[in-house]
Amino acid sequence: MTEKVLVTGPFGQIGSELLPELQNRYGEENVVALGHRHIPDWYDGILEQGDVREKEFMTELFEKYEFTQVYHLASLLSAVGEKRPHLAWTVNVKGLKVMLDLAKEWDSKLFWASSIAVFGPTSPLDNTPQHTILEPVTMYGVTKVSGELLCQYYHERYGLDVRSIRYPGLISWKEEPGGGTTDYAVEIFYKAIEEGEYTCFVKEDTKLPMMYMEDAIRGTLMLMDADEEDIDVRTSYNHSALSFTAKELEEEIKKHIPDFEVSYEPDERQKTADSWPNTIDDSAAREDWGWEHEYDLERMTEVMLKNLREKLG
Ligand code: SER
Repeated sequence: MTEKVLVTGPFGQIGSELLPELQNRYGEENVVALGHRHIPDWYDGILEQGDVREKEFMTELFEKYEFTQVYHLASLLSAVGEKRPHLAWTVNVKGLKVMLDLAKEWDSKLFWASSIAVFGPTSPLDNTPQHTILEPVTMYGVTKVSGELLCQYYHERYGLDVRSIRYPGLISWKEEPGGGTTDYAVEIFYKAIEEGEYTCFVKEDTKLPMMYMEDAIRGTLMLMDADEEDIDVRTSYNHSALSFTAKELEEEIKKHIPDFEVSYEPDERQKTADSWPNTIDDSAAREDWGWEHEYDLERMTEVMLKNLREKLG
């Protein structure tokens, strides 16, 4: 059977790397990017433009293409979500509800992006378990917990094959993240190359779970390829690779750029960072669908600097 694939949020940090992979796998003619406002020049493929919250529009899209798989990535991130909580709720939850209903109607397999933001100050901070207290303090986290429960409900009640990952902070060079708390771990690379100095918006001992994008994309496709009976978690899988403090990242970059200078001026995002885990226990993902990460801090830093230097000329 030919797959017909829909990607929402296709030009964000994750989508811009996942989209070309899906085109390679399923053919350009079988992958539809649902853009919203920003459409990048590099994109060559089927494009639709609209809003994931609009049921009528989305229904027409499903009727037109009869999607067999959906990668629903459209979402507001944590820092933007704190500035615009109402918008975060409608895009992140109402948008997901529209997608769940349509995926159910068309019997499509659905991937949805969750986050370490589901955890909060009452969750264990170290080696945070798959099943634990979820009391997030950001609107972003509230939307992700609500979304996870909706996904599980649609699986249990309607048999929908919905799969999800709690992404950690994602580090990539192709497209910049749009308004998250873990953005400093990407910004720092740009500043190291372009300006030789960086003012970091979290404290130097802030430690968060992170992952190089190539690992995240590989993990996403592994989860979607896994046999249905192996997927025991229908909320969202803990998915982890490495954890480091902002200072450790600074030191690693300095091995390549010894004169690099970093100062620390925490802003309102510190509170969010403090409420998220230091390290994540992702043994369920490793056991259920064979997840293994490939990039450690050293390798990620090397590859980031190399690719960004080329990109920035
Ligand atoms: N990178 C995201 C954020 O900081 C976490 O999911 O909002």
